[in-house]
Amino acid sequence: MYSSWVLRDKHLSQHPDLSKLPEAKHLLFNDIVLKGILSENGMAGFSNSLSEEDAEAIHQFLLKKQVENYKKEKEK
Ligand code: HEM
Repeated sequence: MYSSWVLRDKHLSQHPDLSKLPEAKHLLFNDIVLKGILSENGMAGFSNSLSEEDAEAIHQFLLKKQVENYKKEKEK
């Protein structure tokens, strides 16, 4: 859940479900999660607590979810 100050500020994530990220955000994933390029909007960089391998593992997990969801949608 996002913190209340983010809600008060009326700035919500464009993609609260990270398994639905568009390509542009995938390409920027490490810059967002490690370097903090969206930190002015409330998404801090986590390089102090996540390694590049950690970020890669999270990213791969999200990509796997995205592929699974895409397959499920196609089966409907
Ligand atoms: C390891 C955990 C996290 C990962 C992998 C992650 C990843 C991301 C990614 C990829 C985006 C870009 C998607 C978008 O544009 O909506 C994003 C946006 C955002 N995240 Fe995180 N996030 C994490 C934790 C957090 C935490 C703990 C907070 C709040 C305290 C947070 C707050 C935000 C906000 C406010 C945005 C929107 C920024 C904007 O629209 O410019 N995130 N996050």
